[in-house]
Amino acid sequence: MVTKPTLILDRMQFFGRLAADYQTMFGVTLESLKGKRVLDCPAGPSSFVAQACAAGVDAVGVDPLYAHGAHELRQRCQDDIAYTVQRMAAHEGAYSDLNLQAYADNKRAALELFLPDYEADRAGVRYINASLPTLPFANDEFDHTFSAHLLVTYSDPASGGILPNSPFTLEWHMAAVFALMRVTRGSLHVYPTTTRTLPARRHPYIEAIVARIEAQNVRGHDACHGNGDTMGVWKCRYEPSTYQRGDMAQNYLNASLVIERQPL
Ligand SMILES: C[S@@+](CC[C@H](N)C(=O)[O-])C[C@H]1O[C@@H](n2cnc3c(N)ncnc32)[C@H](O)[C@@H]1O
Repeated sequence: MVTKPTLILDRMQFFGRLAADYQTMFGVTLESLKGKRVLDCPAGPSSFVAQACAAGVDAVGVDPLYAHGAHELRQRCQDDIAYTVQRMAAHEGAYSDLNLQAYADNKRAALELFLPDYEADRAGVRYINASLPTLPFANDEFDHTFSAHLLVTYSDPASGGILPNSPFTLEWHMAAVFALMRVTRGSLHVYPTTTRTLPARRHPYIEAIVARIEAQNVRGHDACHGNGDTMGVWKCRYEPSTYQRGDMAQNYLNASLVIERQPL
């Protein structure tokens, strides 16, 4: 079967989406998250944390670029939006149905909501500088965790991702997912779950993660806590998504992966 990439980028992109996009990616509402402690990792310059906190969610964002100040993040985000849109425009066919101006405007709108909240967080309680697979949180600290557009997306093109020579190998993906599970007491949601190739298919790293959790979920979770205690059973399912990126590959099998702790 011929597989053709729909996008290849030179480097990790620092731009983010609106809370409304998270709602369609993951099939959740801010209302349903109200009063919950929620992790967004990676959060980037997404406005999810700002908008969720304003809606009564106890939300926290993690990103390694939070080592930098607001001025630098604004510049980096603006540059990355321009670069990505230019690469999409140059790509024959795959984005012909997408309004690239609207795509860029959406990311800029998220940035303008993110930056004031980021600057206001002087205590550093909502925006945490950290890098998967190392998370500076207690076991089971979050009710729900959302992880969008890092896992799968920035894997190597040979596996179906968009980043040549990606450091995000299968081993890294395993470690990242188990780190996210460690800090989550309810459910972990990952998006996207498909390759960026035509014809699209479920990303092989996602399939491997699901297989490992299903085969060894108790032992796997014990291992991630590293203390030998029994932390329960996790169930995996695909939640159909209505998020439309405009990429034909993405819209096939469009779903988030939900990894949910089962009651004992
Ligand atoms: C394209 S953004 C996604 C932001 C947001 N989740 C969204 O869907 O709009 C990807 C982010 O991953 C961050 N990142 C890169 N390496 C990371 C790592 N090892 N752990 C956590 N985040 C990382 C980047 O800095 C960037 O902000």
